[in-house]
Amino acid sequence: MDAFREWLLGFRGASSAADTDNLFMFITLITIFFFFFNGALIFHAARKWRRRKPNEVTPHITHNTKMELVWSVIPLITVMGVFFWGFKGYIKTTVPPTDALEIVVTGKKWVWAFEYPDGSRSLNTVHVPVNRPVRFVMQSEDVIHSFYVPAFRIKRDVLPGRYTELWFTPDAAGVYQVFCAEYCGKGHSDMLAKVFVDTPDQYDLFLREGDEEVRKMPLQELGQLVYENKGCATCHSIDGTKGQGPSFKGIWGHPAKGSDGKDYMVDENYIRQSVLTPQAVVVQGFEPIMPTFQGLLREREILAVIEYIKSLK
Ligand code: CUA
Repeated sequence: MDAFREWLLGFRGASSAADTDNLFMFITLITIFFFFFNGALIFHAARKWRRRKPNEVTPHITHNTKMELVWSVIPLITVMGVFFWGFKGYIKTTVPPTDALEIVVTGKKWVWAFEYPDGSRSLNTVHVPVNRPVRFVMQSEDVIHSFYVPAFRIKRDVLPGRYTELWFTPDAAGVYQVFCAEYCGKGHSDMLAKVFVDTPDQYDLFLREGDEEVRKMPLQELGQLVYENKGCATCHSIDGTKGQGPSFKGIWGHPAKGSDGKDYMVDENYIRQSVLTPQAVVVQGFEPIMPTFQGLLREREILAVIEYIKSLK
């Protein structure tokens, strides 16, 4: 039966989808059963009560209470069973467990953007650990899209101006295809993403160093990405203009004057310290308002920021 199910419905990568599959298989099997059962009845009746003599007249039959009850009550019970089974499954897929990992999904023409609890983001790829419930909180920036992962048996519309959610528990490591299932313009069929279900080791690596694209990215480029995405840009300019914090332009290799009057050389350790414990040295003329980025940046991202600042001559 499992092989038949997989042939019919495709590979299932989420244990949370078992209800969907079971109900679907049940409906498929009773449909197949009644197809042959009804076909046999029709065949039998046509053969048994066919006209044998010319001028034979059909007897006048009005109804048969017993048969009518049977063919009404049995289907009624069956479809009510299907209804409650489906209803139970719907409630289950609608209410995520409270310990689920939350990832924000944004649909826009024509990409899927993902944002993790630590603030890191990715486009068209999302990493989740195996055997842990995951909850997607979804929104659209423009038109209606629909987030669809056949292998997890989940699909829900993604709407502008309103959050929708989905959850699942992946139980097999691998890569799974995401489709957009709501026509959203000329790039609709390109609106593809991949869900990477990682083993605990792979997921650790991802948390420490980012996804493969980030791991391969040159440090300076990654530094720019961090600068733009993690909020550095709101206070630190790169063109020398004074913001809430000192500009990054041309600071590398020069001393910065601290509010205690001492000079601090802007080198690797100075930048690292400024990112992780910003109040250690506050540059003269600025307020001590920078929050710490401890735990928000990966080691490689701090290195990347250093390389980026180096490049801003
Ligand atoms: Cu987005 Cu179709």
